[in-house]
Amino acid sequence: MVDAPKLIEARGISKQFGGVEVLSDIDLDLHAGEIHALIGENGAGKSTFVKILAGVHTPTRGSIKMNGDAVNVTSPIAAQELGIALIHQEPVSFPDLSVAENIVMGRKGGGLLSRVPWATIIADARRYMDMLGVSIDVTRPMHGLSIANQQMVEIARALASDSRLIIMDEPTAPLTPREVDTLFAIARQLRDEGRTIIFISHRLEEVRMLCDRLTIFRDGSHIATQTVASIPEDEIIRLMIGRELKKYMRKHTASIGETALEVSGLTLPGAFEDISFTLRKGEIMGLGGLVGAGRTDVARALFGIEPAKSGKIKVGGRDAKIQRPPDAIDLGLAFVPEDRAGHGIFGTLPVEHNITAAIPGKIAPSGVISRALERGFSRKSVDDLSIRLASLNQPIVELSGGNQQKAILARWLLTEPEVLILDEPTRGIDIGVKAEFYDMIGDLAEAGRAILLISSELPELLSLCDRILVMAEGRITAEIPRDEANQEKVMQAAVPRSGIAA
Ligand SMILES: Nc1ncnc2c1ncn2[C@@H]1O[C@H](COP(=O)(O)OP(=O)(O)OP(=O)(O)O)[C@@H](O)[C@H]1O
Ligand SMILES: [Mg+2]
Repeated sequence: MVDAPKLIEARGISKQFGGVEVLSDIDLDLHAGEIHALIGENGAGKSTFVKILAGVHTPTRGSIKMNGDAVNVTSPIAAQELGIALIHQEPVSFPDLSVAENIVMGRKGGGLLSRVPWATIIADARRYMDMLGVSIDVTRPMHGLSIANQQMVEIARALASDSRLIIMDEPTAPLTPREVDTLFAIARQLRDEGRTIIFISHRLEEVRMLCDRLTIFRDGSHIATQTVASIPEDEIIRLMIGRELKKYMRKHTASIGETALEVSGLTLPGAFEDISFTLRKGEIMGLGGLVGAGRTDVARALFGIEPAKSGKIKVGGRDAKIQRPPDAIDLGLAFVPEDRAGHGIFGTLPVEHNITAAIPGKIAPSGVISRALERGFSRKSVDDLSIRLASLNQPIVELSGGNQQKAILARWLLTEPEVLILDEPTRGIDIGVKAEFYDMIGDLAEAGRAILLISSELPELLSLCDRILVMAEGRITAEIPRDEANQEKVMQAAVPRSGIAA
């Protein structure tokens, strides 16, 4: 390993945004033919560092060598010409172009797309999607694709670029276990061809499974680089968060009260069928299953984004007609969507407006917004969820991915809803903060709120929920009480019976 040829030598890389240093003096070597994990807490500087390698950001100081020669990665195009491809944490695409054009765009000279015959574009795109085991129509436009498929397009675009360095910034978050396997197989194949991969993830088991070496960032500094096999997990965590991990222990099961939400025979053809359950005050109910099982569709229907075609919803014992989100909000429902970049964020607005956006009544009791109240609520959220920022006035897009997520979570937690629906709330949140977040959910339940938690992370469902419903192919396949729940039972119920991929 030590003698492996170096593809990249980064030296003294620093980056400031508006006078705040977010990366300090990073030295890092990347070998040809390795998969290198980059890990660290939310806001540690991982995305910023790889964006510098990919020409998205210019470093304030520092230099980069590629195969021994100094390079200037002044733009994403320059990176593309050098053979550096970045799979973004938040998929970026041209929504009006077809999937195929979005994929082929990644190739050298991809800007000259208009000269490539359409049939070739389609055939090439299809080939990459086949490699990834994705069966969507590549001639359809990008917009409207699920985030899993948007992520697949990002990956296909990187593959199409035939790059020497492929950077994957949290690529697995929205993928099913099967899709993750496929991605890992491709990553290993690329490595065996001598390419270099940077892999960013908050899931340490993925790092363990896939990566050869790992680098830990903390607070914008390079803390350690080691071979994955030689470093134990608790050491990784200690280096990442600078302390021992707080173990999450659910304080106690809240006393479960009256029915908060009752759903019967809810059906939306093509998405879900005959969904029935009751959720009571003080209860945390999990909704498990694989990505694509229809859980998000159910949540969207409950919140009136795309209402069900038939079936009944009762809130607090009364028949509820939820045709649009305002209907749901009036009834005391709140929904934290999985696609926060698409639905949750007012990107150019300050963090504090984003945090308080759903509680106009609380910050403007007299009809006029009180700056002091707005500050107070947002400052408390920032403390409770350890949101890292330079100032509450900062546009939210300037926060790291995980911190944007925490801000949107905070927004809905502040509404103290009767029924809180969370769709993959901890995706992209580092392990140091998860325990705090679980505590907040527990407190809400204890205060008599009803919580519906959609999560693909089994340990999360198992430790947090009073009851777990499992969905597969649009139907509920199991209902498992807390004391009978285990990994096998949930997995078994989550696997589609028909064998037809959703
Ligand atoms: N365009 C920007 N303007 C100002 N600050 C920024 C900008 N981009 C990133 N930052 C800041 O840089 C720091 C590092 O962010 P970065 O996105 O690199 O973190 P990360 O390690 O990728 O975190 P996560 O795990 O949450 O994705 C954060 O404090 C963030 O707020
Ligand atoms: Mg990031």
